Formats: sequence, C-alpha cells, structure tokens
Amino acid sequence: MARKVKVGVLASGGGTNLQAIIDRAADGRLDAEVAIVISDVADAYALGRARIAAIHHAFIDPRDFPNREAYNERVIEKLRDHEVELVALAGYLRITTDNFVDAFEGRIMNIHPSLIPAFCGKGMHGLRVHQAALDYGVKVTGCTVHFVTKEVDAGPIILQRTAPVMDDDTAETLSARVLEQEHEAYSEAIQLFAEGRLRIVGRRVHVHQREGG
Ligand code: GRF
Repeated sequence: MARKVKVGVLASGGGTNLQAIIDRAADGRLDAEVAIVISDVADAYALGRARIAAIHHAFIDPRDFPNREAYNERVIEKLRDHEVELVALAGYLRITTDNFVDAFEGRIMNIHPSLIPAFCGKGMHGLRVHQAALDYGVKVTGCTVHFVTKEVDAGPIILQRTAPVMDDDTAETLSARVLEQEHEAYSEAIQLFAEGRLRIVGRRVHVHQREGG
C-alpha cells in the first residue's frame, strides 16, 4: 500500500467528484487523505460534504481580496497550513493564476468533462460543455484529468475516460453519464500520483509500471 498523499480539494459547486474521492479514501481504494476542502462559494455543497465527513473546510471569500493573485496567495497559505501535497480542482470555477501554479508546480490536477482538446477552454464549463458536444454531433465524449499549467485546460493529460452519446441525450443526461466516469477517473489519477507513477515529459504524462510490476 502506498503512503497516503495529502490532497487539498478546491470546489465551487455540488462536489460529487469530491465525494467520490472522500469515499474511496475512506474505504481504502485510494491512498489519499483529503486534508482540506476550500471553496470560493459560501454555500457550495462541497463544503457541506466536507463537514459531514469531518474534513477541514474553508470558504475564502473572493470579495475580501483586491485581485485573483492576492486571493490565491491566501489559498496557497491555507493549503500549506494543511501540508497539502496534491491540489485537486473539482468543479472549481475560478481561473488559476501564475503564483498558484508556481506554488504547486506539477502538483495541481483538474478534471474536465470532455475529451480535451475538444470542448474546453475559457468559459467552457458545466452543461455548456455537454451542449457543445451534442451540438457538434460527436458519438463519443468523456472526461479528462490533467495537470494544471498556466493556460486554461491545456496541461499534460494524465488520463481520459469515454462515454457514448445517445440519440436522445440532453446536456443533462449526457452530463450524468460522463460524471460517472469522472468519479472513477479522478481517483485513478490521484492513486497514480500517490504511487509516484506519473512523470511529466513535455506535453505527455508517462505512467510508470508499479514497482516490481
Ligand atoms: C464536473 O463535471 C467537473 O468535470 C467539472 O465540474 C463538474 C463538477 O461536478 N470541472 P461536481 O461538483 O464534482 O459534482
């Protein structure tokens, strides 16, 4: 069993990805401990999920800071207070800033509900992503877990999972199908990180064999 990696989760919304991580960490499928959950939204249900699971959680109000860099300085401080080794953005709607990426270089992951580079980038979040996939007419979509770099949704891809698009799908039904894949994918990526098996090589992420494997 790998050492438990301390994860800080940043979420703005309902937090089903957070819940999937909490559940898998609790039942031993994931060698991780959620050390802190931070939200930029006061009533984000992700904070409620953390409270129920007795995990440290904090709402940091963007209105208390003059700009995004200053806001993120506070977030960085909070993550460091909790000795976070890996930051997982899970439905976090604030765009990261350079100081944030520099503070946790190679240690920030994000999940996006499409097969990047399709249907991603600034403003592409939530149901908009799935509506764009439907409008385009793709037959397969999915989700992507990637490392975060200074460019939105453009960091090296760790893994992707697919989901079929059905003729009668709406953005809502498609979102639900992709979300099931997200819940598996995020934990899988975090587990690979916990096992020290991810190497960033340029734009690519190499997944190393298990030791002795
Ligand atoms: C997910 O679709 C995720 O890919 C995206 O935002 C959504 C968050 O869902 N970044 P939840 O808050 O984890 O339920």
